[in-house]
Amino acid sequence: MKVIICKDYEEMSDKAAEIVISEVRKNPSAVLGLATGTTPLGLYSKMIEDHKKNGTSYKDVRAVNLDEYAGLDCSSDQSYVYFMRKNLFNGLDIKLENTYIENGKAEDECARYNALLDKLRQDVQILGIGSNGHIAFNEPGTSFDSVTHTVALTESTIKDNSRLFKSIDEVPKRAFTMGLKNIMNAKKNVILVSGKNKAKAVYGLVKGEITEQVPASILQKHNDCVLICDEAAAELIK
Ligand code: GLP
Repeated sequence: MKVIICKDYEEMSDKAAEIVISEVRKNPSAVLGLATGTTPLGLYSKMIEDHKKNGTSYKDVRAVNLDEYAGLDCSSDQSYVYFMRKNLFNGLDIKLENTYIENGKAEDECARYNALLDKLRQDVQILGIGSNGHIAFNEPGTSFDSVTHTVALTESTIKDNSRLFKSIDEVPKRAFTMGLKNIMNAKKNVILVSGKNKAKAVYGLVKGEITEQVPASILQKHNDCVLICDEAAAELIK
């Protein structure tokens, strides 16, 4: 795994934007694997800024998202569809019909989404990490062989994500998520991490034992994975 330690969140977002923008310029119909969470917001605003200033076009780009809360309609402002439109897609010339995410209202989205991912292999997959080492919504204990599945969120993830809801009771308890095998299938993985509260997860990601108890640790086996993090998140790996 290549590790890039940046002085702060801004520099982390710049480095990630360089990778994504150069991929799209080289391959105008690239498949981008995208993530939600607060960490990639800086990257997304830099992609929009570059699109407006330099004209990088996303008109033929396809985007597949990692995960979605189960039970939320796409019109809900807590859904990840809403998040992606608001924070990225509406600022680019990407066609919404080329953007894919699990349907939170479906009974079972997994087979449909796996078939889709078979056709749309990610050229670059953006990832964040949860404080317990989860990636997408693959919680500790998830099989490394997993593909898209339904998950019961752990207490720790519900608590972490409750900051984005009015109250903890509003956080959905279940989600659909790409599995670890779908993530490992990406040609390139770029994992972004910021902040001291993620330092332990970063240690597990980079230097810990490769174990299903730390889902992100499987990335140590990926042949093109870049961790871009700030100084605070890198505290335990320096
Ligand atoms: C959620 C998402 C993950 C994300 C994580 C961390 O659980 N499903 O994809 O990496 O939150 O989010 P944040 O970047 O806000 O810390």
